[in-house]
Amino acid sequence: MPFSLTGRTVFVAGASSGIGAGFARAVHAAGGRAVLGARRVDRCQALAAELGDALAVELDVTDEASVRAAFDAAEARFGVIDGVVCNAGVGTGGRSTEVPEEGLRRVLGTNLLGAMLVAREAGRRLIAGGSRAHQRGRVVLIGSITARQSGTGDAMYAASKAGLAHLGRQLPREWVRQGINVNTLQPGWIATEINADWFAGARGQADIAGLHRRRLLSAEALTPMLLYLLSDACAQVTGATFTIDDGQSL
Ligand SMILES: NC(=O)c1ccc[n+]([C@@H]2O[C@H](COP(=O)([O-])OP(=O)(O)OC[C@H]3O[C@@H](n4cnc5c(N)ncnc54)[C@H](OP(=O)(O)O)[C@@H]3O)[C@@H](O)[C@H]2O)c1
Repeated sequence: MPFSLTGRTVFVAGASSGIGAGFARAVHAAGGRAVLGARRVDRCQALAAELGDALAVELDVTDEASVRAAFDAAEARFGVIDGVVCNAGVGTGGRSTEVPEEGLRRVLGTNLLGAMLVAREAGRRLIAGGSRAHQRGRVVLIGSITARQSGTGDAMYAASKAGLAHLGRQLPREWVRQGINVNTLQPGWIATEINADWFAGARGQADIAGLHRRRLLSAEALTPMLLYLLSDACAQVTGATFTIDDGQSL
């Protein structure tokens, strides 16, 4: 196993579907204990039961009390977590002139503020748990190639991911002496619930046809990098950004 997570607990925020559910499976397959958090806790429970030695927790990343309660539950079961994946995200899909204010706030509140609430809760607990001594605290921020590319829709989504990318430079600086590594993974387009409606339509199909390899990225393509970023192999890597996108952004 190149990037073993044996003996480690990893909290995956946004594990009820898509990429996050895949991450929870990958953590488990690498020997780690996965904590699966999302609002649709029933889905997390089903996956946790399937995996075994995993925990499902109700989580709304936009609500600090919910974030704290989810980490409390994780700690009660497995002790202080070793890593967190800030993966919860939403989009609006629309053009800036059309998206209602509520949609803009939801995107920013989930993708940027929500990631901050989750990352700092993990940071607090890792520091209190002696991360400086153990040097194995890991925070992985799930960004997007939209952070550095302009497009014709979902401007707030792209801006939230650009903000997240900078959080991925600020937090590692803050925690560099505390034994916590913070890195950002920016995937390309993958078919999940977040974009299912878009890619089912003619304009979404045209987008796929316009990609250099005429295909979407597979979620599995992210697994080796995710495991690397959570593992011992990543001990001397922090504040870095990694793109995995099948060349979509070239
Ligand atoms: N698919 C792509 O093309 C792509 C590309 C680059 C980056 N990403 C990023 O990858 C991440 C996962 O997205 P996905 O594609 O897998 O879409 P998805 O299937 O819709 O998954 C989104 C996840 O976020 C969770 N979530 C949303 N709001 C939440 C909240 N307030 N509190 C807790 N959890 C919340 C959802 O759970 P609940 O609804 O149950 O709470 C779900 O588990 C997102 O950050 C997305 O921006 C996706």
